[in-house]
Amino acid sequence: MTAIDAYRDPSLSVDQRVEDLLARMTLAEKAGQMLQLDARRDIKDAVAGKLAGSILHASPERMLEAIDLAARTRLGIPLITAEDCIHGHGFWPGATVFPTQLGLAASWDPALAERVARVTAVEVSATGIHWTFSPVLCITRDLRWGRVDETFGEDPYLIGELGAAMIRGYQGAGLTDPTAILATAKHFAGYSETQGGRDASEADLSPRKLRAWFLPPFERAAKEGCRVFMLGYQSIDGVPITANKWLLNDVLKDEWGFTGTLVTDWDNVGRMVWEQKVCADDVEAATVAVRSGNDLIMTTPGFFEGVQEAVGRGLLSEAEVDAAVRRILRVKFELGLFEDPRAPDAARQAAVIGHPDHAALNLEVARRSLVLLRNDGTLPLPAQGAKTVAIIGPNADDPQSQLGDWAGASGQVDWMPDGQPRELIETVLDGFRAVAPEGVTVTTARGADIERLVPDPAGEFYPDGQPRPPISRPAGADPELIAEAVATARAADHAVVVLGDTVALTGESKSTATLELQGGQIALLDALAGTGTPLIVVLINSKPLVLPPSALNAAAIVQAFNPGMRGGRAIAELLLGLIEPSGRMPLSAARHAGQQPIYYNQIRGQHGNRYADLTQDPLFAFGEGLSYTTIEYSDLTVHTPAVTAEDVIRATVTLTNTGGRPALETVQAYVSDLVTSVTWATRELKAYRQVEVLPGESVTVEIEVAAADCTLVTAAGRRVVEPGDFDLLVGPDSRRENLLRAGFRIS
Ligand code: NOJ
Repeated sequence: MTAIDAYRDPSLSVDQRVEDLLARMTLAEKAGQMLQLDARRDIKDAVAGKLAGSILHASPERMLEAIDLAARTRLGIPLITAEDCIHGHGFWPGATVFPTQLGLAASWDPALAERVARVTAVEVSATGIHWTFSPVLCITRDLRWGRVDETFGEDPYLIGELGAAMIRGYQGAGLTDPTAILATAKHFAGYSETQGGRDASEADLSPRKLRAWFLPPFERAAKEGCRVFMLGYQSIDGVPITANKWLLNDVLKDEWGFTGTLVTDWDNVGRMVWEQKVCADDVEAATVAVRSGNDLIMTTPGFFEGVQEAVGRGLLSEAEVDAAVRRILRVKFELGLFEDPRAPDAARQAAVIGHPDHAALNLEVARRSLVLLRNDGTLPLPAQGAKTVAIIGPNADDPQSQLGDWAGASGQVDWMPDGQPRELIETVLDGFRAVAPEGVTVTTARGADIERLVPDPAGEFYPDGQPRPPISRPAGADPELIAEAVATARAADHAVVVLGDTVALTGESKSTATLELQGGQIALLDALAGTGTPLIVVLINSKPLVLPPSALNAAAIVQAFNPGMRGGRAIAELLLGLIEPSGRMPLSAARHAGQQPIYYNQIRGQHGNRYADLTQDPLFAFGEGLSYTTIEYSDLTVHTPAVTAEDVIRATVTLTNTGGRPALETVQAYVSDLVTSVTWATRELKAYRQVEVLPGESVTVEIEVAAADCTLVTAAGRRVVEPGDFDLLVGPDSRRENLLRAGFRIS
């Protein structure tokens, strides 16, 4: 019997196997191992030529080829494969595509988020993919940013709760579980602090500001055992994130004890040369990247030669390269890839992809993601009597707008030009046709177009190889479409007007200068408002938009952030009163784009509290959302008015359902520190509870906030509890006037 190489011996410890393998590797093999390359390109060159340790964006066919190529390399080190499965396995035909993170966040329900991530992992792991680039833990700051849809909204606490839940769901019972996939906490950190909403611009952040708002969800993710962190793109105070030793080494690894793998974002290392121009060439950029603590280098092929030359010239020691390679090999051993490369498994795919249980969960999530923002009593639509409901608008029957970014034909991959199978997507029109009660007639008209896509004259690709999206030019109002829609609305008892944005107005490098409804949508709404037929405005969009008077004066407004494959059905059920509305805004909506930034937890101190020409109040506030009933809050009592920093503040509040339908109420608890050594947020969400309250019922809800969470970040950048007086503010949303107040003191 021939002895096997030690690294192939599963009876040895991971450390022993890593060291044995590392000792056998040439510098070129180490350089390759650090590369994560784009599988849409020349896969043979990537895996057999540059010896890439990882690939992303592999089509189902390419995946098999890549695994085979890796097995035939000298040491046969298995590939680790990654994809952006950020709201389901969006680029796998027929997989379950859930609401986007923003939609999921509107449920405020971590248990639901965990189930979504678990189901996603079950589907993804059957397809040869070991790792998802999710969850996004960026906090939304400026609504013009194109990637708001990928976030859990604007509040660090809510983001931390939901992010931690998704990490648990993805990573399952541990990495040896064949249905576990690696989770990625991204984009580390501060990427969303854009200037003017411009994507990946220099972020105006101090270490203190980072610690105060941007880092807490990431620290939570590190504690949760998230195995991968991915960088953003931005520079902070002159330092590209890829070169930020303080964040990558001091904070992430030393302070938080992160032992997982760090991956750059797309061509971050090349970007330091061609875009940020802080490095002269690939050799210098490779040196900076390795020395700053990066492990896997995403899509910078020049790193392969660059890092070898850096070692050759003595700019980097091979030991520094080894440290990164060790972390990559470690995760491969932990996943057991040397024993089982976790290749695509056709039998498992047939059993799990798009499974009816997953579709049922998808509907459940879609229902929970809908936020009822206005209702003059028109909703729910009456179930009795013969009625006609007109379903109007460009997003009433548009499958791709409903799924949103990172799914199907959203542009990132080239193997699904026609998107996800149409029959798996239930639009609002489909939903009404499926669930409207007998006697209800469903009619439809498109009414308006949103955009005309024109190729960007700058070319099809960016210098980093990513596809350059077409430019979205607003479509003009079309008199014929409007006339048809007006006639359809006039002949109906109610008109459901489904408006919003498109994937061309959503995503990476697709920030918008405006927040208005684009194209012919406002003209359509204005015309429909003139019909006298009650309008129900449904917004299917990637982020909150500014609404015209004709929308604000409608009978009802429902916010449905890209609600996934079953979203249209959930919307129909909601409008018809078959389910109760329960979603809450995970971020604030603006009245005007000029109100940016509009997040609720603003820092105290400014002249006045309004603009000369406009209020500073948001159009819809963080936490806001209605039910089909009314809930009254009373008797907020703090039972522990004086505590130490080790104690828990315990309070109760009474909720009374004063209407005729049940509610799932999200009781929100904010804390305001009354006098602080540094300027600090007016109030911050510290806890919330979701409680069912039946008509006529009163329930007492217990609220607990750890005094240790009533912190601020000092001028020196330390997170501390400052003893003194605090307000506990409890109510249905973040608006001060809607919150009951009770004081407590921390000594
Ligand atoms: C760039 C994006 O910023 C990141 O979020 C994504 O995971 C990678 N591309 C891979 O597609």
